[in-house]
Amino acid sequence: MKRPLNLVLFISGTGSNARNIVDYFAKHEHIAVLGIISSKENSTIKEYCVDNQLFYAQYTPWDEHEALHQLTHHACDLIILAGFLKKISALLISQYPNRILNIHPSLLPKFGGAGMYGRHVHEAVHARQEAETGITIHLVNEYYDEGRILEQHRCSITTLDSIEQIEEKVHELEYQCFPPAIERYCLSLKG
Ligand code: GAR
Repeated sequence: MKRPLNLVLFISGTGSNARNIVDYFAKHEHIAVLGIISSKENSTIKEYCVDNQLFYAQYTPWDEHEALHQLTHHACDLIILAGFLKKISALLISQYPNRILNIHPSLLPKFGGAGMYGRHVHEAVHARQEAETGITIHLVNEYYDEGRILEQHRCSITTLDSIEQIEEKVHELEYQCFPPAIERYCLSLKG
């Protein structure tokens, strides 16, 4: 029998999406999360990984060569960027062609590109008085937020929503939609 597809999650933030993804795949037959690599110090996630038998690695400053070494060592099949803010190099993309997924907290191509991440996106959405926002799950290429879009999910917002409320709505959408989107993509690869 074939082994499961191995995922490694990259984070730069609190890692709340990463934890949600780990929970979702905890008992999955075909997909396994092996570990979390962080570009920032994150003692909470480090402990979480110990408790959940996952490997944890942290590179501050970010060191993609070391990260790649870990990926090879753990036989990683797909990389999931779950709130990861460093640029992914052409080298890593060539090692994982169509095997790196990112989540972006807006409806791309709106509010994407360099400098558009996390709270900055929600501030821009709020300033433009948008009637809706959402999330985009896409493959990663060499340009920020320009890889092939796999899925988008939207939610309504009003001018009465604060930036924090917009962020909360988008996070809820991420928790609900990101893990099944990863699952659909992985299963499509398995054929
Ligand atoms: C998420 O909202 C994710 O969409 C965003 O960072 C947040 C991380 O939250 N990613 C980007 O902005 C990438 N351009 P988390 O650490 O609580 O999971």
